[in-house]
Amino acid sequence: MAGNKTFTMLKPDAVENGHIGAILEQITASGFRIVAMKLTQMTQADAEKFYDIHKERPFFGELVEFMTRGPIVAAILEKENAVEDFRTLIGATNPEEAAEGTIRKKYAASIGENAVHGSDSDENAAIEGAFHFAGREMF
Ligand code: PPS
Repeated sequence: MAGNKTFTMLKPDAVENGHIGAILEQITASGFRIVAMKLTQMTQADAEKFYDIHKERPFFGELVEFMTRGPIVAAILEKENAVEDFRTLIGATNPEEAAEGTIRKKYAASIGENAVHGSDSDENAAIEGAFHFAGREMF
């Protein structure tokens, strides 16, 4: 059965470009409830651990550098079928391939700087949420 929570980060490009409010508005208007949220900045060690699954990929260094260059908004979101519905809302990893109206189509500049992260499974949503939030920060 599909779970009801996912984890997201509004990435440094989205924060730098002043898109926090518009993206959160689109997320909540699409039926997601924010159950945890904060502005934070990942260290290099944080990003290397968070993205460990991608460490052999050629863009790993670039990804870590990008994700640590400024603050992000980390959040846990609740909705029925959260993981799949959120990935639909954000659109394809490469904004050039993202559907019209999706968050990446509207706010992302490139496959490297693509505005927003969404967990790819219920299992990873739980792991990623716990990476950023203590139990007392989830509501
Ligand atoms: S996905 O969504 O996990 O299936 O996408 P994937 O292609 O596996 O990419 C995993 C994360 O790596 C980022 N990425 C890149 N960063 C820099 N340069 C290039 N070329 C690149 N390609 C992919 C991508 O944005 C994914 O980050 P997250 O935070 O998971 O969205």
